[in-house]
Amino acid sequence: MTKLLLRALAGETLPVPPIWMMRQAGRYLPEYRATRAEAGDFLKLCYNPELAAEVTLQPIRRYGFDAAILFADILLVPQALGADLWFVTGEGPRLSTVTTQADFDVLKPASMIHDTLGPVYETVRILSRELPAETTLIGFAGAPWTVATYMIAGRGTPDQGPAHALKDENRPLFEALLERITEATIDYLSMQVEAGAEVVKLFDSWAGSLKGEDFNAYALEPAKRIIAELKARHPGLPVIAFPREAGEGYIGFARATGADCVAIDNSVSPKWAAEHVQVDGCVQGNLDPKHMVTGGEALVRATREVVEAFRNGPHIFNLGHGITPDADPENVQLMIDTVRGA
Ligand code: CP3
Repeated sequence: MTKLLLRALAGETLPVPPIWMMRQAGRYLPEYRATRAEAGDFLKLCYNPELAAEVTLQPIRRYGFDAAILFADILLVPQALGADLWFVTGEGPRLSTVTTQADFDVLKPASMIHDTLGPVYETVRILSRELPAETTLIGFAGAPWTVATYMIAGRGTPDQGPAHALKDENRPLFEALLERITEATIDYLSMQVEAGAEVVKLFDSWAGSLKGEDFNAYALEPAKRIIAELKARHPGLPVIAFPREAGEGYIGFARATGADCVAIDNSVSPKWAAEHVQVDGCVQGNLDPKHMVTGGEALVRATREVVEAFRNGPHIFNLGHGITPDADPENVQLMIDTVRGA
């Protein structure tokens, strides 16, 4: 096994950590903006295998990252289950909502998602042919809770209030929705692996708003089930889990869910994460994405601090969250040069 990212995921401590970046194909890159314009809009880009593969490859060509992440979106799964989905420029996603039994009853069964998601599998096939031999291909999906927060509210929400309200007021409906998303996620990720994804990542961007028993029931348990089922179907498949802002919930998360790597956000220090999370295996993270905007000496210092903190165990260098559209592409190069010691 030669690919650096796979070695780190297998638990190897490497002299220089492999690097990739959340949202590495995105609006901070002029070549991304050009291809997106050619596609028409973001969703058309997601469903155009040639162009989606092209934008996935752009940051690999420019920077030589150790991993490419499939270009798609976590909200394609709700769409494949029958929700309406559109993006409002400058605001974000909008979906038809699921708040009543009647809304739930019109959703499609998980087995039907492939009718919509076929082009995504084609993107994966193109990428597995075209990526350089040393680059690992990562597939992904949203975790059930995070996907449910968008399906229930019909949009992104600062506190996930509508999803918490449904959970508290109609728990059977809330749990039925989570169950449907869980089944769809297993089948979706499994198809990505069959098409050539070598690693999968589960994004639970809003895990931090689940507390206590709710965190166990709706973040930890679904991740555990998805990971167990994927590993049963694809023995040896490495999985990265990202229970963002889980705080204390990060402790033992890999052990409890069977994830090979836990991705860490910026609410915890690298030193804390090394002590409490890296003890169980590989960690991914966690440079603050603001440095990709501001750059300079502070970027170099913070990058070195992350590398140093995780030096004595398996580590994948990444940001704590996605790079933002106002980032400067030159700062990304400075980060990479700093990690690789150039
Ligand atoms: O990381 C990558 O480069 C791979 C592709 C990827 C996208 N979204 C492309 C995208 C991945 C892995 C995602 C995950 C995703 N999508 C998450 C989980 C990770 C996280 O950020 O917490 C979530 C919550 C979404 C839902 C989503 N998609 C939102 C809220 C938005 C709007 C906010 C924004 O940044 O504009 C999107 C749009 C989106 N997804 C863009 C990209 C490149 C921007 C769309 C554009 O080009 O206009």
